[in-house]
Amino acid sequence: MPKETMTAENFQKLDELIIREKETKGALIQVLQKAQDIFGYLPLEVQQKISKGLKIPMSEIYGVVTFYSQFNLEPKGDYLISVCMGTACYVRNAQPILDEISKFTGIKSGETTPDGKFSLLACRCIGACGLAPIITINEDVYGRLVVEDVKEIMEKY
Ligand code: FES
Repeated sequence: MPKETMTAENFQKLDELIIREKETKGALIQVLQKAQDIFGYLPLEVQQKISKGLKIPMSEIYGVVTFYSQFNLEPKGDYLISVCMGTACYVRNAQPILDEISKFTGIKSGETTPDGKFSLLACRCIGACGLAPIITINEDVYGRLVVEDVKEIMEKY
Protein backbone atom coordinates (compact mmCIF):
# COMPACT_ATOMS: atom_id res chain seq x y z
CA MET A 1 0.00 0.00 0.00
CA PRO A 2 1.14 3.63 -0.49
CA LYS A 3 2.54 5.24 2.60
CA GLU A 4 -0.17 6.36 5.03
CA THR A 5 -0.08 10.16 5.05
CA MET A 6 -3.33 10.99 6.83
CA THR A 7 -1.53 11.38 10.13
CA ALA A 8 -2.23 13.75 13.00
CA GLU A 9 1.14 15.33 12.36
CA ASN A 10 0.26 16.11 8.76
CA PHE A 11 -3.12 17.51 9.74
CA GLN A 12 -1.31 19.76 12.18
CA LYS A 13 0.87 20.98 9.30
CA LEU A 14 -2.26 21.59 7.25
CA ASP A 15 -3.79 23.66 10.06
CA GLU A 16 -0.65 25.74 10.27
CA LEU A 17 -0.66 26.22 6.51
CA ILE A 18 -4.29 27.36 6.53
CA ILE A 19 -3.68 29.79 9.40
CA ARG A 20 -0.69 31.22 7.53
CA GLU A 21 -2.50 31.68 4.23
CA LYS A 22 -5.99 32.50 5.49
CA GLU A 23 -5.74 36.21 4.83
CA THR A 24 -3.89 35.91 1.52
CA LYS A 25 -6.09 36.68 -1.45
CA GLY A 26 -6.10 34.08 -4.22
CA ALA A 27 -4.13 31.64 -2.11
CA LEU A 28 -6.26 28.62 -2.99
CA ILE A 29 -4.07 27.02 -5.64
CA GLN A 30 -0.96 27.58 -3.58
CA VAL A 31 -2.60 26.09 -0.50
CA LEU A 32 -3.83 23.07 -2.46
CA GLN A 33 -0.36 22.55 -3.88
CA LYS A 34 1.27 22.74 -0.47
CA ALA A 35 -1.39 20.45 1.02
CA GLN A 36 -0.65 17.96 -1.73
CA ASP A 37 3.04 18.20 -0.90
CA ILE A 38 2.16 17.26 2.68
CA PHE A 39 -0.26 14.42 1.98
CA GLY A 40 0.89 13.27 -1.47
CA TYR A 41 -2.66 13.78 -2.75
CA LEU A 42 -5.82 15.67 -1.90
CA PRO A 43 -8.33 13.43 -0.14
CA LEU A 44 -11.82 14.79 0.47
CA GLU A 45 -11.12 15.38 4.15
CA VAL A 46 -8.21 17.66 3.29
CA GLN A 47 -10.30 19.56 0.72
CA GLN A 48 -13.02 20.04 3.34
CA LYS A 49 -10.57 21.45 5.85
CA ILE A 50 -9.23 23.88 3.27
CA SER A 51 -12.77 24.83 2.30
CA LYS A 52 -13.65 25.64 5.89
CA GLY A 53 -10.35 27.31 6.69
CA LEU A 54 -10.26 29.58 3.65
CA LYS A 55 -14.06 30.00 3.57
CA ILE A 56 -14.21 28.82 -0.02
CA PRO A 57 -17.13 26.59 -1.05
CA MET A 58 -16.34 22.92 -1.71
CA SER A 59 -17.76 23.23 -5.23
CA GLU A 60 -15.09 25.78 -6.08
CA ILE A 61 -12.32 23.67 -4.56
CA TYR A 62 -13.52 20.61 -6.41
CA GLY A 63 -13.60 22.61 -9.64
CA VAL A 64 -9.98 23.65 -9.16
CA VAL A 65 -8.59 20.24 -8.20
CA THR A 66 -10.28 18.53 -11.12
CA PHE A 67 -9.31 21.24 -13.61
CA TYR A 68 -5.57 21.29 -12.98
CA SER A 69 -3.82 18.06 -13.85
CA GLN A 70 -1.15 18.55 -11.17
CA PHE A 71 -3.64 17.71 -8.45
CA ASN A 72 -4.23 14.10 -7.44
CA LEU A 73 -7.45 13.00 -5.80
CA GLU A 74 -6.11 9.54 -5.12
CA PRO A 75 -2.92 8.41 -3.43
CA LYS A 76 -0.06 8.01 -5.83
CA GLY A 77 1.74 4.72 -6.30
CA ASP A 78 5.45 4.25 -5.62
CA TYR A 79 6.03 4.68 -9.36
CA LEU A 80 4.19 7.34 -11.29
CA ILE A 81 4.08 6.48 -14.98
CA SER A 82 3.29 9.54 -17.08
CA VAL A 83 2.52 9.04 -20.74
CA CYS A 84 2.82 12.21 -22.78
CA MET A 85 -0.29 12.80 -24.87
CA GLY A 86 0.90 16.08 -26.37
CA THR A 87 0.51 16.47 -30.13
CA ALA A 88 4.00 15.32 -31.12
CA CYS A 89 3.76 12.21 -28.96
CA TYR A 90 0.17 11.55 -29.90
CA VAL A 91 0.90 11.45 -33.62
CA ARG A 92 3.78 9.08 -32.93
CA ASN A 93 1.54 6.47 -31.35
CA ALA A 94 1.38 7.50 -27.70
CA GLN A 95 -2.13 6.02 -27.44
CA PRO A 96 -1.12 2.41 -28.21
CA ILE A 97 1.74 2.80 -25.74
CA LEU A 98 -0.66 4.01 -23.06
CA ASP A 99 -2.96 1.08 -23.87
CA GLU A 100 -0.08 -1.35 -23.58
CA ILE A 101 0.93 0.04 -20.17
CA SER A 102 -2.72 -0.21 -19.09
CA LYS A 103 -2.73 -3.82 -20.15
CA PHE A 104 0.47 -4.49 -18.27
CA THR A 105 -0.58 -2.80 -15.02
CA GLY A 106 -4.32 -3.42 -15.21
CA ILE A 107 -5.11 0.25 -14.54
CA LYS A 108 -6.38 3.14 -16.59
CA SER A 109 -5.05 6.69 -16.66
CA GLY A 110 -5.69 8.37 -13.30
CA GLU A 111 -5.68 5.09 -11.38
CA THR A 112 -3.29 3.38 -8.97
CA THR A 113 -2.72 -0.36 -8.75
CA PRO A 114 -4.29 -1.97 -5.64
CA ASP A 115 -0.84 -2.81 -4.27
CA GLY A 116 0.12 0.88 -4.49
CA LYS A 117 3.04 0.20 -6.79
CA PHE A 118 2.07 2.05 -9.97
CA SER A 119 -0.01 5.08 -10.86
CA LEU A 120 -0.72 5.87 -14.46
CA LEU A 121 -1.32 9.31 -15.89
CA ALA A 122 -1.77 10.68 -19.39
CA CYS A 123 -0.16 14.09 -19.34
CA ARG A 124 0.33 17.13 -21.52
CA CYS A 125 3.48 17.93 -23.50
CA ILE A 126 6.50 17.75 -21.23
CA GLY A 127 8.68 19.72 -23.62
CA ALA A 128 10.82 16.93 -25.01
CA CYS A 129 8.97 16.53 -28.29
CA GLY A 130 12.18 15.63 -30.11
CA LEU A 131 12.08 12.34 -28.21
CA ALA A 132 8.40 11.62 -28.94
CA PRO A 133 6.71 9.45 -28.00
CA ILE A 134 7.86 9.71 -24.44
CA ILE A 135 6.98 8.32 -21.03
CA THR A 136 8.44 9.04 -17.61
CA ILE A 137 8.52 6.74 -14.61
CA ASN A 138 9.33 8.89 -11.59
CA GLU A 139 12.64 10.50 -12.62
CA ASP A 140 13.39 8.14 -15.50
CA VAL A 141 12.65 9.27 -19.04
CA TYR A 142 12.07 6.92 -21.95
CA GLY A 143 11.81 8.38 -25.44
CA ARG A 144 11.31 7.28 -29.05
CA LEU A 145 9.28 4.38 -27.79
CA VAL A 146 7.53 1.68 -29.70
CA VAL A 147 4.85 -0.49 -28.17
CA GLU A 148 7.25 -3.43 -28.04
CA ASP A 149 9.52 -1.52 -25.61
CA VAL A 150 6.87 -1.32 -22.93
CA LYS A 151 7.21 -4.82 -21.55
CA GLU A 152 10.97 -4.56 -21.11
CA ILE A 153 10.73 -1.17 -19.42
CA MET A 154 7.96 -2.25 -17.07
CA GLU A 155 9.85 -5.31 -16.02
CA LYS A 156 12.58 -3.10 -14.56
CA TYR A 157 10.19 -1.86 -11.88
S1 FES B 1 4.29 16.24 -27.14
FE1 FES B 1 5.24 14.79 -25.89
S2 FES B 1 6.97 15.83 -25.23
FE2 FES B 1 5.97 17.28 -26.40
